[in-house]
Amino acid sequence: MIELRNVSFTYAGSNRRVLQNLSLEIARGESVGIIGPTGSGKSTLCYLFNGLIPHHFSGKFQGEVLVSERNVMKETIESMSQIVGYMLQEPSLQIASPFVESEITFGMENFAVPVDKMDKRLNEIIAELGLEHLRYRATADLSEGEKQKVVLASILAMDPSILVLDESSSMVDSTSKNDLVKILTALKKQQRTLIIIDHDLDFLAKIVDRVILINNGSIIIDGATDSVLTNNRLLIKNGLIPPIFPDLFDIFQEKKLLDDPLPLSLESARKIVQKWLP
Ligand SMILES: Nc1ncnc2c1ncn2[C@@H]1O[C@H](COP(=O)(O)OP(=O)(O)OP(=O)(O)O)[C@@H](O)[C@H]1O
Ligand SMILES: [Mg+2]
Repeated sequence: MIELRNVSFTYAGSNRRVLQNLSLEIARGESVGIIGPTGSGKSTLCYLFNGLIPHHFSGKFQGEVLVSERNVMKETIESMSQIVGYMLQEPSLQIASPFVESEITFGMENFAVPVDKMDKRLNEIIAELGLEHLRYRATADLSEGEKQKVVLASILAMDPSILVLDESSSMVDSTSKNDLVKILTALKKQQRTLIIIDHDLDFLAKIVDRVILINNGSIIIDGATDSVLTNNRLLIKNGLIPPIFPDLFDIFQEKKLLDDPLPLSLESARKIVQKWLP
């Protein structure tokens, strides 16, 4: 469980409140998308979950953040990293080892996981993420998308109960995006809490059950994925591009030709089209 109570934050050296009196709760096992225009405070919000704020980024902080019943302000980033796996918007910054294998085991080594258990986990994670071809490579020579996969592997190796992904789909091609959907769907089934920041709303629609739209550091709407991601006007008003099917079917709704709600998935769009066919 994650609980934010009346949280405000201003980065040191700035006089702009980036988070404004935010309150929200995320239950264990929920999958939540965080959306909003660039600079709206999405990454800043997620820095609260593992204590990067206030322990790494200093500034003026107000309010309370509880993660798995711990007051994040009183914990260290290291202790929080055992609960919260965090993939930064720039994964290159997270790579700490010269080789892929040692990168994946890096976190486990820090937490003194026994060698046999570590090897088993390394093999499992490499198989799960399909990283066999990268296993013996130097991390410095990897492409950005490959680095991203390796960082994800090193985070998952730690078995976090909460996983935060900041724009993780932005650097990968559509095949890798589909792989990511599969990996995240499997993690969701394991009752892990997923918090995913992404500009690609079609990608989010395939994974999360709940979406929180933020702008100027405040929550604009927080609701079920189907209702938030088919609210084209609200999305556009907040600088976002609606998902493809709600965008396409909008014209039919406008012309009152649509009895159903706007479809979000290919499956629901297909059902509507099938009804129209003679
Ligand atoms: N370390 C920092 N010091 C000062 N201001 C910062 C710092 N990091 C971010 N900001 C500012 O805080 C605001 C929110 O930034 P944040 O990175 O949370 O936005 P975001 O919604 O994640 O944007 P994007 O979609 O571009 O990643 C921005 O105006 C940004 O310039
Ligand atoms: Mg960001």
